[in-house]
Amino acid sequence: MKKDFLTLGQLSEREFWDLMDRTRTIKQRRQKGQVYQPLLGKTLAMVFEKSSTRTRVSFEAGMFQLGGHALFLSPSDTQISRGEEVRDTARVLSRYVDAIMVRTFRQETVEEMARYASVPVINGLTDKFHPCQVLADLFTIQETLGALKCLKIAYIGDGNNMANTLIEGAVRAEMNISLACPKGFEPDKDVLARHMDSTNRHGMSRVELVTDPLEAAKGANVIYTDVWVSMGQEGENAERAKAFKGYQVNQALLDVARPDALVMHCLPAHRGEEITDDVMEGSHSAVFDQAENRLHVQKALLEMLIAG
Ligand code: CP
Ligand code: NVA
Repeated sequence: MKKDFLTLGQLSEREFWDLMDRTRTIKQRRQKGQVYQPLLGKTLAMVFEKSSTRTRVSFEAGMFQLGGHALFLSPSDTQISRGEEVRDTARVLSRYVDAIMVRTFRQETVEEMARYASVPVINGLTDKFHPCQVLADLFTIQETLGALKCLKIAYIGDGNNMANTLIEGAVRAEMNISLACPKGFEPDKDVLARHMDSTNRHGMSRVELVTDPLEAAKGANVIYTDVWVSMGQEGENAERAKAFKGYQVNQALLDVARPDALVMHCLPAHRGEEITDDVMEGSHSAVFDQAENRLHVQKALLEMLIAG
């Protein structure tokens, strides 16, 4: 049976840790200049209804490195913008390609694509989740700090797709996560409801929601942030600038975190808003390692979904 990757919570514990291991092997192979092409003759269709630098290039380069091919499909050049239904697109693409990656607005759209496609469907970001990014983030934490279990992530800012996915990722990796979000900008209610009861071995909740960034950052191993205004929310610029004032990753937050804390951001970043330039360029920053690891982790994912 085909397997989709629409949310991180969909991965079993075994699949998650296997992916972490495979990513390490695949990354090492590339660093040694070894050619590894398990996807010779395979094609990935990539449907983008929103902008992208990292997701597009890492999937396209990754497919090529694995011996396959990737097709970039923008709605304006396809019948999608002229109203062809998702369920029809899904069935047609499935007759040509071996997997479909979708970046879109509603989570229901990737779910519908997956329901009608006979090939694996990958969520390349929706308003609700960004699971490929968090896989790369967790791999980066493990490779840099040497472990995941029991570490604390502090997430500062908007309770958006990144926050929702980090909650699922933290629980899957048996980490603790403290999110500092302004009132009215909390993570998705269902995601919170599903994970708020998840407890660590001390019987304490793995997921904590606060409003004070300093409280979240205290003792954290990782400080994570994302933009105040996500794709599709451009009309809310002024309101959000006001609400998120003070929700910034800066030296004051780093001072209360662990001495070896990592600073993370999925990128693109807005320096001076959710993160200061000095912290983004500073010695704690892992932002470019995260971006690089998108390539390696997605190659492991493509191998798992397409080659099995
Ligand atoms: N982090 C991320 O998904 O970047 P892009 O929007 O450039 O793909
Ligand atoms: N929250 C951001 C993430 C970009 C990778 C957005 O959805 O625009």
